[in-house]
Amino acid sequence: MRMKIIGTGSALPKVTVSNKQIMDWVDTSDEWIRERTGIANRHLSTGETVASLAAEACEKALKQAGVKAEEVDMILLATCSPEYLLPCAACQVQERIGAANAVAFDINAACSGFLFGLTTAQAYLQSGMYKKILIAGSEVLSKLMNWGDRSTCILFGDGAGAVLIEAAEDTQESRMISFSQGSDGAKGMVLSCRDRWINNPLYKENIQEDFYVQMDGQAVYRFATRQVPACIQDALQKAFLTVEDIDLFILHQANARIIEAAAKRLHADIQKFPMNVDRMGNMSSATIPVLLDELNREGRLKRGDKLVLSGFGAGLTFGACVIVW
Ligand code: COA
Repeated sequence: MRMKIIGTGSALPKVTVSNKQIMDWVDTSDEWIRERTGIANRHLSTGETVASLAAEACEKALKQAGVKAEEVDMILLATCSPEYLLPCAACQVQERIGAANAVAFDINAACSGFLFGLTTAQAYLQSGMYKKILIAGSEVLSKLMNWGDRSTCILFGDGAGAVLIEAAEDTQESRMISFSQGSDGAKGMVLSCRDRWINNPLYKENIQEDFYVQMDGQAVYRFATRQVPACIQDALQKAFLTVEDIDLFILHQANARIIEAAAKRLHADIQKFPMNVDRMGNMSSATIPVLLDELNREGRLKRGDKLVLSGFGAGLTFGACVIVW
């Protein structure tokens, strides 16, 4: 079975926050943030949730495809910032959109979550188990930030994106040609966020209250600029394609410098790397589907185009896939 993306959607919190506004909260500057990251604005939640944003993005994808929610077999929601540990956010989305016949569960692979969701969906589809699958990435990362820590809070934003895929006929060109993905748990603590500690009467350790994102920025930067080009090359080799064969490289929007460094290492034309990180910041699992939706709605994706999608982030996790749109 071949995978065909038949609908895309995205949803963003209504409030946009500029670098200048962040200067009211921490000691930073517009110049520093733009130079180091390429970020100028980001959307921050003033009440929107992972479930509400994901549901809105999924509804838009369904509408675009002309598919009813009851026809959806599966919902995979990538998130590392759900409101509830249980029920999972995917089940909340199922309820909100009325996808009563779908099985729904979350995937947490941080910023690689959407990509891992897409390859998971492809495996289900290829096995013949399901025919129509919604894959979403949705984050409200702003609640995981220490808004007194200028080295992290300036980087992230909130938002959601979704795609609807269906099993396509073998006569159609659309498909996932190849993928390459991996994890490096040994380096996990370079980007982490603690959940609550054990609090049962048997546990005697000191409880430390640090429930916010901690990051070794330079270690993450080194990892991303080495690993992203390597796994893209691996996926291209598996597809018997070269950098020149690819129409667009849709990379996780963490930082413009990382994307530029990846393009350089691949000897690829930077014009083939669309970016929206300047307007969105890093929305973790949501960046790739939000960018895909923007490009799709602008008419920049044509059937038959060859795209590379690539994500990387906490875990550490990384991956790339080659698809024919
Ligand atoms: N505004 C102004 N100064 C800041 C600042 C901010 N928001 N954040 C940190 N600084 C300061 C530091 O305190 C440090 O000052 P010092 O030299 O007086 O100690 C100086 O800027 C340099 O800090 P450093 O951390 O070395 O900066 P950097 O050049 O490595 O840039 C990042 C920091 C975070 C932009 C960069 O490491 C990066 O992009 N890493 C990848 C992060 C990422 O994408 N994570 C998510 C992956 S999914």
